[in-house]
Parts: sequence; C-alpha cells; structure tokens
Amino acid sequence: MGYALRAMEPDDVPVVAAIDRLSFPTPWPSAAFQRELRRGNAYYYVLLRPEEEVGPARDRRWTDRLRSLFGTVRKSRIIGYVGFRQEGDAGHITTIAVQPDWRGHGFGELLLWVAMERIVDGGLDRVTLEMRPSNQVALQLYRKYGFDVKRRRPAYYNDGDDAWVMEVSVDHRGYRHFLTRRCEALRERFRRHQIELGRIEAGLEAGPL
Ligand SMILES: CC(C)(COP(=O)(O)OP(=O)(O)OC[C@H]1O[C@@H](n2cnc3c(N)ncnc32)[C@H](O)[C@@H]1OP(=O)(O)O)[C@@H](O)C(=O)NCCC(=O)NCCS
Repeated sequence: MGYALRAMEPDDVPVVAAIDRLSFPTPWPSAAFQRELRRGNAYYYVLLRPEEEVGPARDRRWTDRLRSLFGTVRKSRIIGYVGFRQEGDAGHITTIAVQPDWRGHGFGELLLWVAMERIVDGGLDRVTLEMRPSNQVALQLYRKYGFDVKRRRPAYYNDGDDAWVMEVSVDHRGYRHFLTRRCEALRERFRRHQIELGRIEAGLEAGPL
C-alpha cells in the first residue's frame, strides 16, 4: 500500500495527457506522449496514489470527471508524472506535473528527485530543461535542486513564449550527497503528514542509462 511509482505505460497516456492539459498553457497531445514512450532514450514515470480512497475531496470529483471522459481509465490512480531523455552526457527533463488537487505536498519534488536520482545513477554529467520564465513555482523547485539559468531560447513555446534553458552539473560526489539529504528530508516530510511511500524505490530500475 502507499504511494507508488512505476514506469509510464501506453495505457496511462489518456490520464497523463488530461493532467497535462490542466498543467500547461500549451499541453502535449496524447500522440506526443506515445511517441516519447517509443523512444529508446526516454524514461517516463508516473506517481500513483494509494488504492484506498485518500486525498482531497476534489480529487474524487476529478476521478468522476475522468470516469465520464474515458471509460477505460476510470480506475486510474495517477496523480503526477515526470520524464527525461538521455541526450549525450546530459539528462534532459522534458516534463513534470502534479494533478492540481495534489500540489503542495511534496509530490512534485519527489518526482523531480526520482528523475535526478535516475540520471545520476545512470552516470550522466548534467541535467538540462526548459521552463517559462513566468513559472515561479517551477523556478523555486529547480533552484532548490541547483539549476541555473543558462540562456534564453526565444519563441520556444507554441504560443510564442520564450524559454529559459536551465542546467545543473551532477557528476560529483557533492550532488549525490545532496540527493541523499533531499531524500531524507522528503521522507521526513511525508512521515509527518502520514503519507506512506509504498513502492517508490521498487519502481526504479538502476544502472547505466
Ligand atoms: C511544478 C510542480 C510540479 C510542483 O509540484 P508540487 O507537488 O506542487 O510541489 P511540491 O509540493 O513538491 O514543492 C516542491 C517545491 O516547489 C516549490 N513550490 C511549490 N509550491 C510553491 C508555491 N506555491 N510557490 C512557490 N514555490 C512553490 C518550492 O520550492 C517547493 O519546495 P518547499 O516545499 O521546500 O518550499 C506543480 O506545481 C505543477 O504540476 N505545476 C504545473 C506544471 C509545471 O509548471 N511544471 C514545470 C514545468 S517547467
């Protein structure tokens, strides 16, 4: 029991794309997620809430809404996801989001931590990502993990917005220690709020990417 993490599967995509629509001004279509899952160099994970009915009452309305939209995914427990690609010696985080009802409890950080841990464990040197300069929440989260703004990429998004390219170097022992400390802090935060992490580690394969 407890919250679980596993690799994203093609059947997850309708729910993931629904959360994406709630999370981004220019969401990815389902086909984009399906394409990502077919790439040999891409790693996508979903975070599942426990099987028992927990969480905010609003979440139950969300489940009802999903039920009305997609019969086949009515039992979905997905509350967030993260993905990255291996691009040479870098991990490139392509997406991260938490279903709005579940934000502010540490799940976004957990998902980022999982991606960073996998990238570091995979032996890559640095991590990059793009973000909208206006996204203060994401900026705080990425700064917490040591990301700096490298440059601005004009008109990167489909709606014409620029992106900041963010980067952090992870190929040193200090960053491994940092991830261990963040893991302990997250565990403590979840323990305080009686959030049980069931199969988080078990969902992660290890070794070189
Ligand atoms: C970004 C996102 C994934 C964060 O998920 P979350 O579960 O709400 O975040 P957490 O509760 O794990 O918080 C982690 C950190 O994010 C930052 N953060 C979270 N909520 C914040 C808020 N309201 N204001 C400022 N910073 C905030 C803080 O640095 C926080 O660390 P702290 O708890 O030590 O202060 C979530 O807000 C989301 O899905 N947003 C829409 C999609 C998106 O913008 N993705 C990033 C694209 S670049």
